[in-house]
Amino acid sequence: MGDASGKLTMKLIILEDETKATEWAAKYIRNKIIQFNPGPERYFTLGLPTGSTPLGSYKKLIEYYRNGDLSFKYVKTFNMDEYVGLPRDHPESFHSFMWNNFFNYVDILPENTHILDGTAPDLDAECKAFEEKIKSTGGIELFVGGIGPDGHIAFNEPGSSLVSRTRVKTLAMDTILANARFFNGDTSKVPTMALTVGVGTIMDAREVLILITGAHKSLALHKAIEDGVNHMSTVSALQQHHKTLFVCDEDATSELRAKTVRYFKGLSEVHNKLVEPLYSMKQPCTIKQFE
Ligand code: GLP
Repeated sequence: MGDASGKLTMKLIILEDETKATEWAAKYIRNKIIQFNPGPERYFTLGLPTGSTPLGSYKKLIEYYRNGDLSFKYVKTFNMDEYVGLPRDHPESFHSFMWNNFFNYVDILPENTHILDGTAPDLDAECKAFEEKIKSTGGIELFVGGIGPDGHIAFNEPGSSLVSRTRVKTLAMDTILANARFFNGDTSKVPTMALTVGVGTIMDAREVLILITGAHKSLALHKAIEDGVNHMSTVSALQQHHKTLFVCDEDATSELRAKTVRYFKGLSEVHNKLVEPLYSMKQPCTIKQFE
């Protein structure tokens, strides 16, 4: 796993700003899907996040679909998390987010989208079934994620087990404060619990892409890649994943060491080969999986 030689690989891709970072991620997802060559017997399984960070990527993916460059017909998706207690049609449910910002505008089939149901009568059974569903599709090819300013991934709050599976979590006050912006700034309206994939669930994906933008996430990025693996910053577990990409903007690098930034910027030409050339479903792809 990892690269062709079997090494563990962690890449940090630094783009000028948020627009460029989210576009880079969209191009990467596009190339991955096309190179996988999905079909009725071979679905590409994609893990997806909500939040404001991935919005630019979703816009680009919609654009690629509209231009005929990309199709989601043979793509299955699993979302990272969902609030407990919000009906699916609540405007701030992650279910609504995904349909309003992405699924409604591409050719994905509703039965191929999977989002945890935070109103299920038995939440533990709901989480167990989600894990089983992921397993039965053959596992997640690429898990795209975002992080909270405290370094949480999905809703794996600081202190979560790094081998956790999909389960019910109580949200940390920092997360409630960060997400109050979606509830008219009213913290009392933010659900206090969520269903979330575990860190272990994400670690099982064959590849993970984390999008991090903005100065407010810079300490989280530092902890994610420069500090040791620590359950107080659950995204740091990815240091032990065999194939991880962190895609960020300049602002998010402000707490990184100068030599870390210099090192990864020095690799940008190599990393850009992952998205150049940009493949299109209009032309059959002859190139094999890239590493
Ligand atoms: C929430 C979600 C995370 C998401 C994070 C960042 O806490 N559970 O999955 O990554 O917010 O959101 P944003 O991109 O809006 O900063």
